[in-house]
Amino acid sequence: MKKSKDLVSAKAWIKLKQLSKSEKLDLRNLFVKDKNRIDYLFTNLAGINFDFSKSMINKKILTSLLTLTKERKVRSHYTELISGEKINKTEDRVVGHLWLRSRDLLPNQEKRSAEIDSTQTSFLNFATNIRNGNIFGYTGKKFTNVVNVGIGGSTLGPEMICHALSNNYDSQLNYYFVSNIDSFEIEKIINSLDPETTLFVITSKSFTTIETLANANQARIWIQERLGKNAISNHFIAVSTAVEKCLEFGISEERIFPVWDWVGGRFSVLSSVGITIAITYGPEIFLEIQKGAADFDKQLLVSPDDTNPSLLHAVINIWNMNFMNYSALAVIPYSSALEKFPSYLQQLWMESNGKSVDIDGNSVKVRTAPVVFGEAGTNSQHSFFQMLHQGSDVIPTDFITVKRNKGKLKDFADNLMSNAIAQSAVLAFGKNKKELIAEKTSRDLIKHKEMKGNRPSITIMLPELKAEIIGKLVAFYETSVIYQGFILGINSFDQWGVELGKENAITVKNRINGDNSKFDSSTEKQISEYLKDI
Ligand code: F6P
Repeated sequence: MKKSKDLVSAKAWIKLKQLSKSEKLDLRNLFVKDKNRIDYLFTNLAGINFDFSKSMINKKILTSLLTLTKERKVRSHYTELISGEKINKTEDRVVGHLWLRSRDLLPNQEKRSAEIDSTQTSFLNFATNIRNGNIFGYTGKKFTNVVNVGIGGSTLGPEMICHALSNNYDSQLNYYFVSNIDSFEIEKIINSLDPETTLFVITSKSFTTIETLANANQARIWIQERLGKNAISNHFIAVSTAVEKCLEFGISEERIFPVWDWVGGRFSVLSSVGITIAITYGPEIFLEIQKGAADFDKQLLVSPDDTNPSLLHAVINIWNMNFMNYSALAVIPYSSALEKFPSYLQQLWMESNGKSVDIDGNSVKVRTAPVVFGEAGTNSQHSFFQMLHQGSDVIPTDFITVKRNKGKLKDFADNLMSNAIAQSAVLAFGKNKKELIAEKTSRDLIKHKEMKGNRPSITIMLPELKAEIIGKLVAFYETSVIYQGFILGINSFDQWGVELGKENAITVKNRINGDNSKFDSSTEKQISEYLKDI
């Protein structure tokens, strides 16, 4: 990737700045004045509907936003990514998660292609053998539980997908995810499961992550105490780049599945990091998810800018953050099976784009990522939607709906969808004084009940929660985040900000354990208070 030019001096950026001052953006008026609005702000790709019409933009703004993507060479940077340029400059790495699902996108790299194929074959075969009982526990019993031990990108994607699939598929094994360095999590699992039928998947690209190692060690102690030392190799597998470290842990070589440094943790769900999905639901389901993601990627590649949903999503978010000055984004999936989606998206988006320097190290003068948060609808309506509707901050919302959400009770499905559709309309159009008076609202309450509306949202309608569709949803958001990174000129693929906290935790722990390092007065006070009563 060439040296990035200053974003704020891009012609289209300057134009957008002017438009943000001159255009009157009122959603009610925008719909009244522009009858065709829904035609150019509604798109369908690969069977998924995207309604961008309730965004705070008009045609002029959209045109300038798309011009900005041209000026920032978004699509050619994306081609560079696919073609294996080292666009992750600060880590000197290529970015290859797309190749995992589409080998044909690999630029003449026979070796890498063969490597991906053989890894995928081996971890999917392993999953099959667990499922059919050819691979079993130390005492000869079939595995019935799979416990994924990992954190961040080594758990959020697989956990989100295992949960999402439960809408349509039966899991053959019970699945569990342990991530936090809180003994409560691992203790809860080991106190409730039978060691003879439990398989641990230790997922850690680096195999140095403290949380993962602490939980993995605890699991190893448990297996060793219950079944003996020799049982460890039967009950543990690993997904990692660090083969030596896995071997030291006691995992046998044929049970270590590689993942490469060119697949970022938060983009790794469709690599061997997703093995828990394949074990739980079957390799064919895993392949369907990959197929869905690949199909979406390919359609995005040929989709014109003005109907490319990831590009539209990207530019609308750039507009929201920087010209409308909205600093947060609510993500509300209207399906309990997607309740883990906001956490997954939080890491994907905020770890990727939460940066304050551009790819060349110059400080960026714009907002690069929103505060992403969310919770399933309708639960969220009864907790924080009050603020979305009447709070002093405007918080744009992504509604994710599912047309055929599984469940036999039709009335429930209609209720769920009606709520989602209704919320986006209320956010956009609210209820004004005139309407309240017409309803004979008491005068004292008019000010309190008035809903100003003019709060933007995007609605995504998935046909159903089949494996392929989940793959497409993943590809949609991954690409939007990457496109935004290219517009901003930042490196979406490193995460240096997380490192210092990790290092400092070790220093603090050493101090708690008695060394004599010195900290600031606040840190010292917290440590001494902690040490007081334990
Ligand atoms: O949170 C920082 C991070 O480095 C993430 O990017 C990554 O997904 C996670 O830690 C886990 O890392 P590992 O897979 O090496 O254990």
